[in-house]
Amino acid sequence: MADKHLVRFEPVGIEIEVEEHQTILRAAAEQGIMLMHGCKEGQCSSCKSFVLDGDDIELDRYSTFALPDAERDEGYTLLCRAHVYEDVTIELLNYDEDMIRSGLPIQQAVAEVVANDLVTHDMRHLVLHLIEPQEVTFFPGQYMDIAVPGTEATRSFSMANTSTREAGQLEFVIKVYPDGLFSHFLATQLAVGDRLDLVGPFGVFTLREGHDADLLFVGGGAGMAPILSLLRSMAERGIDRSATFYYGARGSRDLCFADELRALEHRLPRFRYVPALSEDHWDGEVGLITDVVATHEKDLSGTDAYVCGPPPMVEAAIDLLSRLGIEKDRIYYDKFTTTGDPDGP
Ligand SMILES: Cc1cc2nc3c(=O)[nH]c(=O)nc-3n(C[C@H](O)[C@H](O)[C@H](O)COP(=O)(O)OP(=O)(O)OC[C@H]3O[C@@H](n4cnc5c(N)ncnc54)[C@H](O)[C@@H]3O)c2cc1C
Ligand code: FES
Repeated sequence: MADKHLVRFEPVGIEIEVEEHQTILRAAAEQGIMLMHGCKEGQCSSCKSFVLDGDDIELDRYSTFALPDAERDEGYTLLCRAHVYEDVTIELLNYDEDMIRSGLPIQQAVAEVVANDLVTHDMRHLVLHLIEPQEVTFFPGQYMDIAVPGTEATRSFSMANTSTREAGQLEFVIKVYPDGLFSHFLATQLAVGDRLDLVGPFGVFTLREGHDADLLFVGGGAGMAPILSLLRSMAERGIDRSATFYYGARGSRDLCFADELRALEHRLPRFRYVPALSEDHWDGEVGLITDVVATHEKDLSGTDAYVCGPPPMVEAAIDLLSRLGIEKDRIYYDKFTTTGDPDGP
């Protein structure tokens, strides 16, 4: 039996047991506690927290961009890398009171490939059918970790579908990198009928429904996936909040799901889809997605924003949206950090 220690989170007053081989973040996820995080690999600092009490904490390998030595000396830690060897108390610096206790415990799953098709010239639409268990419940906007066959590595991918409509199915939109460990395998080897191991669901990129604020979605590349899940869920449940989806792509060959998004404009009369191309001329919006948002939106105070895609786009969008009046804690985002990012470990 592994040694366990108590971890208490303040100011929320939640206590969990953490085994020494687990990270604090992983133990919390297994117990349905949804803590803020991004990469889970010590690269992005989304899980940075402060140790109020306890010293015996060790960290797996992490980037000093995410946790500079001076901050570690002051008492900051990364929950996705931290193992505890005594009882500790942690102050959460970023947390969402609406979400923290609403987590679904993560599950191990095996799924079979039903479809693996190109949806743009470099993004694939992967559809999996769950074998064991036969269903995984997730909130729209969440993601799973998929094991890369034949390796110890996992990669995170956001579901594009909803588990209320299709509990036995998981749908993903995945960008292919020429040397990508998982995405190259996906593009060249993974066939219908093959099986994949997954674990999840993870993530807090989920719709906050305690109020009726206007919604602004900003996405780029495969950031389409979780936003599509959120929009599909709104349509299924008839949530007709005023909502705009700004989607940035380089050229028209990078656009996907356009017909479905146009159809959603009819199902959700207060929803607008605004695609923009940064490198092609066409009769739609042209420019970087942040510039297009800046042209159309002047005052966004009171709006809830959901931003998802490559880290530079997400960072630029957070800056812009804050300048346009959205409170920082009402900007929800998933950065699709990759292990190959230049600011990685
Ligand atoms: C919470 C979360 C959710 C995610 N959801 C999705 C999703 O729904 N869809 C999706 O496609 N991805 C998603 N990602 C990213 C995904 O997990 C992988 O990191 C990504 O697919 C790359 O994995 P890989 O194994 O193919 O490439 P890796 O082997 O990790 O990288 C391969 C090579 O590609 C290069 N490379 C990596 N990133 C870039 C880049 N941005 N630009 C240029 N070169 C690059 C690297 O330098 C490296 O040489 C998500 C990430 C997170 C953290
Ligand atoms: S989630 Fe811990 S550093 Fe990214």
